[in-house]
This record gives sequence, structure tokens and C-alpha cells, in this order.
Amino acid sequence: MHDETELAALKRVLERPRWGYGEEVSAFENEFAAFQGAPYCVSCTSGTTALEVSLRALGVRPGDEVIVPAYTFIATASAALAVGAVPSFVDVDESWCMDPAAAEAAITERSKVIIPVHFSGCMADMDRLLPLAESHGLKVLEDACHAWGTQWDGRGAGTLGHCGVFSFQASKNMTAGEGGAIVTTDEELARQAGAITNTGRVEGESYNVHTRPGTNARMSEFGAALLRAQLTRMEEQTRIREENAGRLTEALREIEGLTPQAGTGRETRRSYHLYCLRIDPESFGCTRAQFCAAAQAEGLPTGAGYTLPLYEQPMFTEYGAPCVKRPCPVVEDLCAHSGMFLGHQFLLGSAADIDDIVAICEKVKRQAGSIPAQ
Ligand SMILES: Cc1ncc(COP(=O)(O)O)c(C=O)c1O
Repeated sequence: MHDETELAALKRVLERPRWGYGEEVSAFENEFAAFQGAPYCVSCTSGTTALEVSLRALGVRPGDEVIVPAYTFIATASAALAVGAVPSFVDVDESWCMDPAAAEAAITERSKVIIPVHFSGCMADMDRLLPLAESHGLKVLEDACHAWGTQWDGRGAGTLGHCGVFSFQASKNMTAGEGGAIVTTDEELARQAGAITNTGRVEGESYNVHTRPGTNARMSEFGAALLRAQLTRMEEQTRIREENAGRLTEALREIEGLTPQAGTGRETRRSYHLYCLRIDPESFGCTRAQFCAAAQAEGLPTGAGYTLPLYEQPMFTEYGAPCVKRPCPVVEDLCAHSGMFLGHQFLLGSAADIDDIVAICEKVKRQAGSIPAQ
């Protein structure tokens, strides 16, 4: 979604002599840091890059293990591979986020970092994960790529662990087509992450001095200008999505066989990148594929979400990328039978639009027995 704000922002940059890495980028970093409640923000080119840069800044070395949930976008795990580390997959719990007990069981002497993913904008149980990590000397990198504006007991996602990463890719609630950011409360970590994104140059030092190995992961001035414009709508849009999600959840809970994703109860504000729900085919009366086909026919593009646990991706099973795999029954069930998503755009409508979504789900329930097999 855009209006004159984005057009004016792009024009402002276009008419300047310099289009790269300047005042828009630093203004965006300051504004996004303030939005998440973090003292530091380092922008970069994508959420994937933000994960890789963070792992490098946290000192992850080849052979280290990085504990990640098996239910997330591939980047959470492939970032570990990109720095020579090994993703160690663990199950999620009823929140669809990392199960702290499963994370604890996965810790070995090679473990270095835990990456809880705040899936769809709902936070992983940080009350249990943070002390767990601390007691084993592990770093916590929050994958907050869906959690712009989410707060845990008033503290912004990304500010509870050692650092947190965000994505501004095209499908996201705020976007510049591509883009990413790292937030942290640790000044030195921010300095190292900033240097990695800028070919190893440390801020304040000479342009021709490259203090550590890095890359070019710099956000462009155009991207930053777009994101500054998008950020002006985030408070309001987050409020609307949250309100509509509450209305939807209340109604869907009444439909036997549907279970909306529960928060942990500690989110004082929750972004909704996806509206997630589970179907129990037996008590609902039809399979997930039948539900999605029927809902789509009614104009509601419900999708099955991730249909493979990450460790079943061909990069691990065929290409041979290393990983530590263990049974993840909740993830297996979400992927094979029960998990469903609705995009965040559907939560920006009116209360009547939400009631229409509910009416479609009720209709599918009533007619479940007669939906053709998919
Ligand atoms: C949970 C999660 N982590 C990381 C990423 C990677 O972000 P990007 O697409 O900006 O590289 C995504 C993107 O969808 C994501 O959903």
C-alpha cells in the first residue's frame, strides 16, 4: 500500500546528488530503532542478510550449531549454513514458535546461538528461552522478520535477546520491495554488524580502512526513504490488524475443528504478518485441502502455509547440506494436516469484512461433508 508519502520520499532522494548510503538510511535506522524501542539499528539488504550478518557479528564459526525451529521460512536455517554453521532443528509448541523444552534438549557443547522465530508476529516464549540461553552461555538472535511493532511485556521484539532481525521484503507489512534490519541493545554488536554490512569499515574510521571481513549489504537511499514512509502507518495499521484479529479469533473459536494460533499471553502488542489457524479434519469434517479449496471458491485465499518441516527440504535431504534432525511432531502435524495461513492484508478491512471471513468459514463447516476430495 502506498500514497503520496512514498512518491514524495522517492522524489526527495531522486533529486539529491547522492543515492547511496546517506541521510535517509541513517534517519530510517534511528526511526526504526525508536519504533522497536532499541538503542541501535543497522539496516541491510534483506532479512536473510540480517540473519547472516548477525550470526557473524555474534561470533559464530564453522561447525557451531545454531538451534532453530523446524517451522519457519528457510532463511532462518540457511543463514546458519551461510556462515558454515549447522542448523539444529527443534519442534514448536502450541504458539507455533520454538518449544523451550525442545530447545533445551537440543543443546550440545557445539551449540552457539538460539534463534527463536516470532512466527506471524506472535512471540516465542522469551521468559523461558532467555534464562535457558544464559545458563548455557548461548546467544539469542530473535528472528523478528514478522514482528515489526510486536512487544513482549512492553519491550519491542528484537530487543530482548542479543539482537533481532527484520525483513522488509515485498510480502511484508512494511516493505521497500527488499530490505532488512538488525536491532540491538549492544553498542559493540551494532558496531560490528554495521562494519560487516559495509565491507568491514568501522564507523568513524577512515574510508579506506577495512577492519574486519565484511560484505556489501548496504540499504539504498531509495529503500530507506520508502521504509520511512511505510513506518508512518505502522502504529495505526498494527492497531487495526490487532483489533480485527481479536474479532476473528473470538468468532473462529466457536467453530468446532478450527483453532486460531494462540499468543503466549505476554504480547502487549502483536503484529500480524499472517493470521494462522489449525484445522482438525476429524472434528471439522473435511481435510485442510478441502477447506482451502472451498474457502478459495468463496473468495477467501486461505493457504496451507509451509507443507515441509525444514529438515525435509531438498537442500538437506538431497543436496546434502548438514543439519541436526530430530522428531518434531507438532511441526509435522502443522505441515502435513493442520496449518493454514491468511495474509495480513485481510486484517486491514472493517469489522464487516471480518464478519464476512467468519461467514465463509461457517459455510465451509456446514458444507464440509460435501466438498469434493482434493
Ligand atoms: C521468519 C523469516 N525469517 C527470515 C526471512 C528472510 O527475509 P528476506 O526475505 O527479507 O530475506 C523471512 C522472509 O520471509 C521470514 O519469514
